[in-house]
Amino acid sequence: MTRIAPSILAADFARLGEQVAAVERGGAEMLHIDVMDGRFVPNISIGVPVVESLRAATDLTLDCHLMIVEPGRYVEAFAKAGARMISVHQEACPHLDRDIRRIRDLGAQAGVALNPATPLHVLDEVLPLVDFVLIMSVNPGFGGQKLIPAAVEKVGALAGVRAERRLDFRIEVDGGVDLSNAAAIAAAGCDILVSGSGLFGAADPAEAVRSMIRFTNPPGAARA
Ligand code: DX5
Ligand code: ZN
Repeated sequence: MTRIAPSILAADFARLGEQVAAVERGGAEMLHIDVMDGRFVPNISIGVPVVESLRAATDLTLDCHLMIVEPGRYVEAFAKAGARMISVHQEACPHLDRDIRRIRDLGAQAGVALNPATPLHVLDEVLPLVDFVLIMSVNPGFGGQKLIPAAVEKVGALAGVRAERRLDFRIEVDGGVDLSNAAAIAAAGCDILVSGSGLFGAADPAEAVRSMIRFTNPPGAARA
């Protein structure tokens, strides 16, 4: 079962509650929240208070993608605010092992995100510790970019490593995901598809989520 995580970066923040309710109605099971600090990425987005408000407004799993320097300083605040999944960037964490363990100790699922230029092998040592790996399919910082096709091969390679090493982390893909490429990414081994403008940019976000679920889960496929 491929799950859909709408990225609120592309939502209308003045109507956030309404937009979240729409994607929930469409069958989304999680909500992707992009946290940017203007340092790790050249853009600033949202922080802890928004996560707190969303926690009170929805039952969706809140998935916080920290695109910030020194993310270890903030994971506790995000976990306390209600993030159930927290990812940090490998490129931002000289003490990645410690940061992953910290997220898990806080009771959240720990993910590691990789930029397009970062090879998979940097995760060799930590793969047994993570709950999920986030493969960036654009350079992080902005919504609405075009997917870098090599990311799909990277997902396939990571799924191969997972099978070979008999691990069970999930694979999430983020950036430029829309109805034109969602099925191919899912077929490569992706478990969680993040999509911002592909869903919130649609005239009917609930219907867009429904279509993405249909496109990525062929009829008869087992629900896991
Ligand atoms: C990019 C963010 C993404 C972004 C995806 O830095 O991490 O989550 O919101 O947006 P789309 O789907 O529009 O590429
Ligand atoms: Zn993201």
